[in-house]
Amino acid sequence: MKRIAIYPGTFDPITNGHLDIIRRSSELFDEVIVALARNSQKTPLLSEAERQGLIEAALIESCSDRTNIRSDAFQGLLIDYARMMGATAVVRGLRALSDFEYEFQMALMNRKLAPEVTTVFLMPHEQYTYLNSTIIRELAHHGKDVSDFVPKVVADALKKKFEVKYH
Ligand code: COA
Repeated sequence: MKRIAIYPGTFDPITNGHLDIIRRSSELFDEVIVALARNSQKTPLLSEAERQGLIEAALIESCSDRTNIRSDAFQGLLIDYARMMGATAVVRGLRALSDFEYEFQMALMNRKLAPEVTTVFLMPHEQYTYLNSTIIRELAHHGKDVSDFVPKVVADALKKKFEVKYH
């Protein structure tokens, strides 16, 4: 049986930390689907099309040596989407203790809803443990170069976004 894993998120924007988890997942599963949640509770800076485009470009930039990773988007409950895709796992990154409570609650609820889908937690490389998309957006908003933390396509897109917004 093909082992398919879903890596869901808002990806506003995708960062090197996300990509680290994606690469690790691709070593453990036959197929990894990076899935943009359309109905995230958040109010993203980037539009759905922008975030999806950046995920695709980032995968080409950073994971082109992997043939088992693809991107998609979903609406509704993650677990319904995972079932529809025939996935047996949902991958989530755990960066620090602060992630734990929310992730634990989500994993247990998802397991209650679909016992056949297992949530797998992976730790990103320690150099990414302090990263999140909010920090990246904030640095870019203040004109800082974020290319140490995100793929070049993302850094360029953020720069352009804030230039357009303020000029
Ligand atoms: N490196 C860097 N940053 C990371 C990271 C990593 N490895 N892993 C997570 N993050 C950051 C993200 O950038 C994001 O930062 P931000 O809050 O500053 O924007 C934050 O951690 C969490 O984001 P993400 O991993 O994208 O998760 P999320 O909380 O945005 O998304 C969903 C959660 C979409 C998976 C969840 O809401 C969901 O499943 N929604 C569908 C509806 C559903 O099924 N709900 C019931 C759930 S029980």
